[in-house]
Amino acid sequence: MKDKEKGQQGFNTRCVHSGEGIDTDTRAIRRPLHMANSFEMPTDVEELLKVLSWDHLDKWEYTREHSPTPRYLEQRLADLEGAGDCVVSASGMGAISATLFTLLKAGDHVVASEVCYTAAQKMLSHYLPRYGIEVSLVDTSNTEEIAAAIRPGTKAVYIETPGNPLTFIADIQGAAEIAHGVGAQLIVDSTWSGLTTQSPFDLGADVVIHSMTKYLNGHGDALGGAVLGTTEFIKQVREDGIVHLGACISPFNAWFIMRGLVTLPLRMKQHSENGLKVARFLEQHEQVQSVFYPGLESHPQFAIAQKQMKDYSGMVVFSLGLELLDNFTFIEHLKMIKHAVSLGHDQSLIYYLPTVFFFEDMVVLEDRQKEKYTEIMGEGVFRLSVGIENAEDIISDLSQAMEMMRS
Ligand SMILES: Cc1ncc(COP(=O)(O)O)c(C=O)c1O
Repeated sequence: MKDKEKGQQGFNTRCVHSGEGIDTDTRAIRRPLHMANSFEMPTDVEELLKVLSWDHLDKWEYTREHSPTPRYLEQRLADLEGAGDCVVSASGMGAISATLFTLLKAGDHVVASEVCYTAAQKMLSHYLPRYGIEVSLVDTSNTEEIAAAIRPGTKAVYIETPGNPLTFIADIQGAAEIAHGVGAQLIVDSTWSGLTTQSPFDLGADVVIHSMTKYLNGHGDALGGAVLGTTEFIKQVREDGIVHLGACISPFNAWFIMRGLVTLPLRMKQHSENGLKVARFLEQHEQVQSVFYPGLESHPQFAIAQKQMKDYSGMVVFSLGLELLDNFTFIEHLKMIKHAVSLGHDQSLIYYLPTVFFFEDMVVLEDRQKEKYTEIMGEGVFRLSVGIENAEDIISDLSQAMEMMRS
């Protein structure tokens, strides 16, 4: 299929066909899984030079550099997210670290989310400063805080939206305008959007990151990450961030994720529909103290979510206002929903985040920030990754567990 024809096709079609093809050896109508770490090298010097150069991503040498199965996945993702190119990695954190270590050097300044995925927060607040990179951590759901922290020499603005763990939304277009005003790049971790519910590049993002472990794979059986951006930037991330730092993906995981992507739009539709139904159910329930879901009118950034999201994905955060240990009793009462930390899987998953644990992870939060999050989270919150089961069954499981808490 020619690129031009692909670009004109609908999103669902591209999820099925982009990067797919007939296997030349067997005529199989699916790309095979190539589990090899090395490829026979040509002895013709001209051909050999192509293999050794990273400009020829269809000439293979060694799997840490690039190999067929991950490359097909990269082609599909670049097409779906509307990027010049993509490089995949062993995990979402592999993608984040590859991006930051490629882009930044000692003396650079970054503005980033004060609250985001724990390991990303560690990277921003602890590891980057060790290498002489200064990081200003602000509430990126408040665009004014980004504007106040930006400096003439700022190199990057890093946002996660919807943000882990509270579903907070950052205004992508607003952040892009501020970043571009000083020549900085806007990096968006779009993992919680599941790709289908927002298009960060259309809103001005320069780099988009996904943990493919979550919605893109969708079946809870593989880890992976992706960095998307211009062809030139991705070439640099591939060389500096992946090949030399080493977080390359296993072809096996790439193959799983490639298969998961086929059903992405169908799954995301169900995650979003279920997410809204579950959030509405929780919102009206007398035992529920608070609910955060970007599709609820009561969400603090509902207006921005409406502006930049087509749908609201499947992450719902809520509190029952119980004593610490009672929250775990509630989880014990759940019959179908699993007690597990990941998200974006077919199965519904829940975990309880006590505010004290949250503060242990987000050690850089100052007292005024802790006060703000204590007001939002109370003693703690449940993070529910709403799966693709029937919404009625998810609601009924939550409902019976809440009923048990009455007794
Ligand atoms: C928003 C976000 N980004 C990145 C990651 C890290 O992904 P991985 O576990 O694949 O490294 C996570 C994990 O939960 C996440 O929620």
